[in-house]
Amino acid sequence: MIKVNNIYKNFGSNVVLNGVHLDVRAGEVLIIMGFSGAGKSILLKNIIGLVKPDSGFIEIDGIDITKCSLEKLHEIRKKIGYVFQEVALFDSLNIFENVAFGLRNLTTLNESEIKQRVKQCLAMVGLKNVEHLNPSSLSGGMKKRVGLARAIAYQPEYVLYDEPTTGLDPIMSDVISDLIINLKKHLHITSIVVTHDMKLAYKIADRIMMLYGGNIIFSGTPDEVRNTKNEYVKQFVRGSSQGPILIEKRFEMERI
Ligand SMILES: Nc1ncnc2c1ncn2[C@@H]1O[C@H](COP(=O)(O)OP(=O)(O)OP(=O)(O)O)[C@@H](O)[C@H]1O
Ligand SMILES: [Mg+2]
Repeated sequence: MIKVNNIYKNFGSNVVLNGVHLDVRAGEVLIIMGFSGAGKSILLKNIIGLVKPDSGFIEIDGIDITKCSLEKLHEIRKKIGYVFQEVALFDSLNIFENVAFGLRNLTTLNESEIKQRVKQCLAMVGLKNVEHLNPSSLSGGMKKRVGLARAIAYQPEYVLYDEPTTGLDPIMSDVISDLIINLKKHLHITSIVVTHDMKLAYKIADRIMMLYGGNIIFSGTPDEVRNTKNEYVKQFVRGSSQGPILIEKRFEMERI
């Protein structure tokens, strides 16, 4: 399982993660929400070993990835699919090769199995007949979905999604939420989903956490989010500019 233990991450004087603890449970869909700049992407990048914490550690299936060898880290990454916030497709490869990339490198599937799997994963994200195209001829939302197909193609044990529905229309957002639910139900994939999209969060979450001020300040079920008295969570969910966060900002402005 994934355990994040007391991690700190600063960029100069900007304290982004300030002692974050979190345990991910087997087979759950865990949502991490938080305002822009709260450190959600940095947290995911720590979990997959793309960014190293200044202190604290992250265990994946009992291995501390902040201290293990690069070889071991590479092995652990094979268990994790990662959907980047900014789609990172290989521009020089067509869509088929982009999705097949992990299959060629991480599995022993033969060519016809790879073909079938690529087609199936593209269909799961609502795309067909795009295999021969280059990323440059796809819309932003289509590229996002190719990134999703690529992350799930080799059926990793864990999938980390960074804003999977941003830039998608409501129908496609529903396709993606159904996909995350189905991966959990049928393949027992454990998911961490970073999102601002409360409709998605309520639909797919087993647990929802909020990252604020470098810490997880709230953790609960969707119902607990709906009924919470935590002002920060309420303000985030309501999307209102009235509340504790704005008040803090006002104080900062007065100090200036
Ligand atoms: N490579 C970097 N160098 C310096 N600062 C960074 C770097 N990466 C992120 N940061 C800073 O860390 C903070 C958190 O960034 P992060 O991308 O994790 O936010 P986020 O919660 O994902 O926001 P959003 O919802 O807008 O995607 C920001 O203040 C950002 O400027
Ligand atoms: Mg982000």
